[in-house]
Amino acid sequence: MSVEKSKKLFEQSKKSLAGGVSSAARAKGPFPIFFEKGKGPYLYDVDGNKYIDYYLGSGPDIFGHAPDFLNDAVIKDMQKGQVFGAQHPSEITISEKIQSIVPCAELVRYASSGTEAVQLAIRVARAYTKKNKIIKFEGHYHGWMDSIGYIPNPSLNQPGGDESPPAVPISEGIAKGTEEEIILLPWNNIEILKECIKKNADNIGVIITEAILCNTNTIMPKPGYLEEMRELCNDNNIVLIFDEVITGFRVALGGAQELLGVTPDLATFAKAMAGGYPISMVAGKKEIMSLIGDGSVFHGGTLNSNVMSVSATEAALNKLSANDGAVYKHIYELSNELMEGFRKISIKYEVPMIIQGPGPTFSVSFTDAEEITDYRSHIQNIDSSKYKKYCEKMLENGVHIWPDGRYYVSSEHTKEDILKTLEAADKVIGSL
Ligand SMILES: Cc1ncc(COP(=O)(O)O)c(C=O)c1O
Repeated sequence: MSVEKSKKLFEQSKKSLAGGVSSAARAKGPFPIFFEKGKGPYLYDVDGNKYIDYYLGSGPDIFGHAPDFLNDAVIKDMQKGQVFGAQHPSEITISEKIQSIVPCAELVRYASSGTEAVQLAIRVARAYTKKNKIIKFEGHYHGWMDSIGYIPNPSLNQPGGDESPPAVPISEGIAKGTEEEIILLPWNNIEILKECIKKNADNIGVIITEAILCNTNTIMPKPGYLEEMRELCNDNNIVLIFDEVITGFRVALGGAQELLGVTPDLATFAKAMAGGYPISMVAGKKEIMSLIGDGSVFHGGTLNSNVMSVSATEAALNKLSANDGAVYKHIYELSNELMEGFRKISIKYEVPMIIQGPGPTFSVSFTDAEEITDYRSHIQNIDSSKYKKYCEKMLENGVHIWPDGRYYVSSEHTKEDILKTLEAADKVIGSL
C-alpha cells in the first residue's frame, strides 16, 4: 500500500496540532494514517487505501461509519433546533426506553462524554454515602479527569506490590491530593477486596469497576466475583458503579449488567449509545439519582441532551431493540466466527495466543499463559512487541485494529469481511 499523502499530512499536522489521535501513531507504527472517509465498517486513507475497521472510532460506531438511518434521523430532527437548554419530548422518549431496557435505570441523566458521566456518578455516590474514598482497580480506565485520573497500567515495579499497588497519576498536572482518595486494587480477587473493605469501610463510599475489563485484554469477571462485590457494597453502605462506557448497548441491549445478571447502583454509558454521536449517561437507583434532581448534587453542561445527540440515541436504541435483537445476533455470530478463526490460526502455526471476551468486543494476545485474569497476569505474560508487529502488518494488509489487541465488531461487518480479516491474519501470523 502506498501512503505518500499520509506521510506528508503527518508532517503538516505537527505544525498546528498538539498531538493528534491517529491510529498508526497509537500503534507506534511507521506512519500515521489519516482517514478521508468511512462508510459501513470501512475506512479509506488519504492515499485511497481501503481498510476493514475494527477500531470503530474507539467503540461508538456499532453501526459502522456514517449509517444512513442514523444520519437521516438526526438531520430531520435538527430542523427543529440544536440545543434548547430546556427539556424536549425526545429526551423523555429515550429515558423511558432506557428505563425499560437497562436493569439499574430507575432514573437517568445525560452528559456528553464518558469522562463526564463517570465524574457525575462519583460525585452523586459520594454525596449519597457521605464517604470520600473510591476503590478503583488496576487496568481499568474511567476517563481522564483528575478525580479518577490514575493510570490504568501502572508499572509493576512501583512500591505496594500485588495487594496494594500505588495510584500512579495518568499525567502530569493532576491535582495533588486526589490520589489520597483512590484505593487501587487488583481486579478479580475477592479476598483482597474483602480485606480492604474490612479495614476501610467507614471511608469507602464508591467502588467503580468495568463489569467486563475491556481496557485490559477484555477479561471476564470470575464466576461470583461481581455478585460478591455487590453484596459487600450492600453490607457496607458503598455505592457500586459499573462503568459501562464500552459494554453499554454493545454486549447486550441492557449492557454487561444484563449479560452478567448483576445490577449496580449506578452505571455510566457512552460510546455505542448513539452510534458515534456525542452523548453519555448516568443511570441508577432513584434514591441516589434523586440527589441530582433535588439540587443537592450539582451537574451542569450547556450541550447536555442536545437535539442531535438525543435524536441519534433514539434512532440507535430503536435499531438495537428491533426484530428481537437481530443486530446483536448478527454481531455475536460474526464475532464468534472471528474468534474461532483466530484460535484455528494459533493452532495451525503453533503460535500461542489467547482470544477472550464476550464477542461484540474481544481481545487477541500473544502469550504462553493459560489464562489472563487481571492486569498483572496480562502485563507479565503478553508479548506486546509481537502484537505491535502484527498490528502494523494487519494495517498493511487492509485491516485496522486496536494496538492493544481489542476488536469491536459492528452490525455492518459481513461474513466476507470476517473471511478477509482471517486471511490477512493467517498471512501475518504465519510470517511473524
Ligand atoms: C470504560 C471507560 N470509561 C470511561 C471512558 C471515558 O470516556 P470518554 O472517552 O467518552 O470520555 C472510557 C474511554 O475509553 C472507557 O473505556
